[in-house]
This record gives sequence, structure tokens and C-alpha cells, in this order.
Amino acid sequence: MSILVFGSVNTDLVFTVPNLPAPGETVLGEGFAQMAGGKGGNQAVAAARDGAEVAFVGCVGEDGLAKVALGAMRDAGVDLSRLIAVDEPTGVASICVDAEGRNQIAVAPGANRMTRAAQVEDAALHPGVTLLMQMEVPAEEVAALILRAAEAGARCILNLAPPREMPEEALRALHLLVLNEHEAAVLATRLGTEATAGALHLALGITVAVTRGAAGAEAAGAEGAIAMPAFTMMPVDTTGAGDTWCGVVAASLDRGLSLKDAMRRAAAAAALACTRAGAAPSMPVAAETEALLSTR
Ligand code: RIB
Ligand code: NA
Repeated sequence: MSILVFGSVNTDLVFTVPNLPAPGETVLGEGFAQMAGGKGGNQAVAAARDGAEVAFVGCVGEDGLAKVALGAMRDAGVDLSRLIAVDEPTGVASICVDAEGRNQIAVAPGANRMTRAAQVEDAALHPGVTLLMQMEVPAEEVAALILRAAEAGARCILNLAPPREMPEEALRALHLLVLNEHEAAVLATRLGTEATAGALHLALGITVAVTRGAAGAEAAGAEGAIAMPAFTMMPVDTTGAGDTWCGVVAASLDRGLSLKDAMRRAAAAAALACTRAGAAPSMPVAAETEALLSTR
């Protein structure tokens, strides 16, 4: 059993600010840090720290930012043999985090735009593998990979973040679609249905999970309906909480847990990620998650 993450990797330029800047406003920050980020890299780190065997497929530039972008995956032991260095700048994200832990993010994908499904060889797609994807790399490459992987019997999980057009045929080939409230609303409008896990499950015929931050997560699918409360924490920085949830759900399903147990573990790990600064650097290891789980 192992996990293959197909997606983006960024260097996050994180500004700590008293309040998020409004259009036209300049806000004087209180701190700055460069950290590993990108939804693909983050989800790979979350799954690896949770104990899964993880490989990452993506692109970076041949520049200084690549080292920061890859640092957390290297430290977590993620297999980077399918990573390609291309003649484009490494992806960067400008992130402002306010005193309440809320964020505002702008991403320049750069090298991530060069990520191709062809970087994954056929032999890597089989029933023992869980493929985990997001939408910060070309949508047509994600769609092509889903169809190939589903055909080969791999478990396919897509986090439709940020929300982008995706052929319904590819969505229907997924085992699990993960959305936050905003992403669920965008997809529901497109499909002419309600933004709930139940309605989206009925519309697509696949298992759908909707995460709602502090309000918990819900899922609907062949396993029935699941409602999972969040673990309550004082947030320091919510960046990467959704990625932690996705990575830990993937790692848990890969390990053979039920969707309900996977969602419970993901809720605990995501809560811990909110209590620490940064995206990838804030993700817990399995022992930390298990310690929180044992409290309730
Ligand atoms: O989901 C959080 C991530 O989104 C950040 O790490 C940033 O790089 C953006 O891709
Ligand atoms: Na965080």
C-alpha cells in the first residue's frame, strides 16, 4: 500500500499581519518566513508524517526557492524520484496571516504549470496505490491521470481545490471527492444541485466529503452518511488545515481504515495543524494525532 501525490509544490512567503489588507490598503507586518507549501506538497507531507509511504509527482524550477519548497517533503521521507526541474520559476504563494489565524493567499504556479500525467508511469498505477490530487496543476493532466488510474484499479482521491472545471467523466471515476464549503458551492452550482455531501453524491454517484472548518466535515457515499465534528482548538494559522485533512484521510484509507475512522483521524490532525504556523511545517506526526484522538 502506498500513496502517490500528483500536484503542486510552492514556497510560501508568509507575512504575519495584524489584519488582512483590504484592496488598496498597505498593512505593516510583524513577521515574515519562507516555508514549504503548495497543496500537493502539503498533502504529501501530511500523509508521510501520518506514517504512509508517499511518492510525489510534480515540477519545481531550477532556482533557490525550490530548496525551500521541497524541504518538508525531503524531511518527511517522501520519494521525489518523479519530480522534474523545469525552466520556469518554482511556484510561490504570498500568504498573509492575521491575528486570528485567518489567511489570504495568492499563488503564482510557475513550474507547477509544467506538471504532466506522463510523469507517472503505468506500472505505478495499480490496486495497491492511492492517488491523491488537487487542482494547482493543469486540470486536463489531472483528468487524464484520473482516467488512467481508475482503469488500472488505483484508489483515486481528488481535492477540487482551487475549484476549476473538471470533466464529469473524470469526477465520476473518483473514489472520493473532497471539497471545502466554497468548493462545494461552486461545484453544486455547476451541477444544479445543493452544496451538501449528500446532494453531490447523488449527482455524481461517487463518495463526496465536504469539510467545513470548525463546523466539522460530512460525507456521503456507499458507506452511508457520515457527520464528523471538528476538534476545537485556538487557531494560530489555519493554512494547510485542509491539506492535512486530505493527506491524513488518504493515509488512513491506504492503511485500511473505514471512511468514518479516516475522517476522525483527519479531524484531529487538521486541528493540530491549525495550532502551529505555516502549512507543511505545521502538520502533526502520527503519535501527536493519536494523542489527541485518545482524549475523546
Ligand atoms: O492549501 C494551502 C496552500 O495553498 C499553501 O501552502 C499555498 O502554497 C497554496 O498552494
Ligand atoms: Na497551520
